[in-house]
Amino acid sequence: MSITKRFYDNSAAGTLVHIFTLKNSKGTTVKITNFGGIVTSLMVPDKNGNFEDIVLGYDKLSDYEKKGPYFGAVIGRYANRIGNACFELNGAEYRLDKNEGENHLHGGFIGFDKVVWNAEIVTRNGAEALELVYRSKDGEGGFPGNLDVKVTYSLTEDNALVIDYYAVSDKDTVVNLTNHSYFNLAGHASGNILSQKLMINADKFTPVDKASIPTGELVDVKGTPMDFTKMKTIGQDINADFEQIIFTKGYDHNWVLNTNGNLKEKAAEVIDEKSGRVMEVYTTKPGVQLYTANFLDGSEIGKGGVPYYKNAALCLETQYFPDSVNKKNFPSAVLKAGEKYNHTTIYKFAVLK
Ligand code: GLA
Repeated sequence: MSITKRFYDNSAAGTLVHIFTLKNSKGTTVKITNFGGIVTSLMVPDKNGNFEDIVLGYDKLSDYEKKGPYFGAVIGRYANRIGNACFELNGAEYRLDKNEGENHLHGGFIGFDKVVWNAEIVTRNGAEALELVYRSKDGEGGFPGNLDVKVTYSLTEDNALVIDYYAVSDKDTVVNLTNHSYFNLAGHASGNILSQKLMINADKFTPVDKASIPTGELVDVKGTPMDFTKMKTIGQDINADFEQIIFTKGYDHNWVLNTNGNLKEKAAEVIDEKSGRVMEVYTTKPGVQLYTANFLDGSEIGKGGVPYYKNAALCLETQYFPDSVNKKNFPSAVLKAGEKYNHTTIYKFAVLK
């Protein structure tokens, strides 16, 4: 595996921004920019050895700076939603950016997806890796504590994109980091993902209210359109007459993973039978947000001038459950001062035999 670096563009504020290309001996190639830690391109082979770019994105840095779907980005300090944009910690109330109605989404007005990270090519387990570092200042987005964050991307010889997240704070705080890649295993320009198949290793999900804030319940998926315990096409139940799906205009929910932090067990799997491409997801986190790109409507013009429409991709955002900072029964996203936040998520690519 090798990593090369090239100039991408200047950010609006005049900072030099680069693109790093990670390539393994199989020809699998991942491009990542240190603006937002964004995965801008991911070329993986199909069953006939043909490579296709399977993530949505833009050509220009200025589009990533201005636009809102979080294509490919690192999300923080707190991925997904916090109800009423506020939470309590150690008896103090913290008021966060209200960047989605009354609520907080994906780190606020300037989340980790909208900042320039320091990038370095490092050696990890005998191979090169891309290390991105960012200091989120005390009070940024409303969160307490200076938080030093490190996200390390590596690509293995067996086609796994490994993302290691690390953070440490000088005050008690909350942390929930994820990656927001939009995957379409048939290719980013191929249309919708409704005929692709999905398995999520979860017997329960966390239902939401009309504003997409979890109600706090964990509900069985069995007998509902939320059941992905057995592979089914994403389109099978996506238009079901089911309140949860109507609320979010498609899937946009957190599943409670049976894997419960075990990186060795498969958390989710996507199959595109036509191309034969397969993606497996492994994670140390307790939850995953399946988002079926319900808000895309053709107005986002992506790479190569391709308009992206509803359901053009799916996101599998591994995470602590949304609004866990206000839900005592959800696994806690609190990070004590000096404690280490360490998580890993792996997106592994293969082909059907
Ligand atoms: C997450 C959220 C969605 C949406 C996307 C970004 O998946 O759950 O509701 O905000 O991010 O558009």
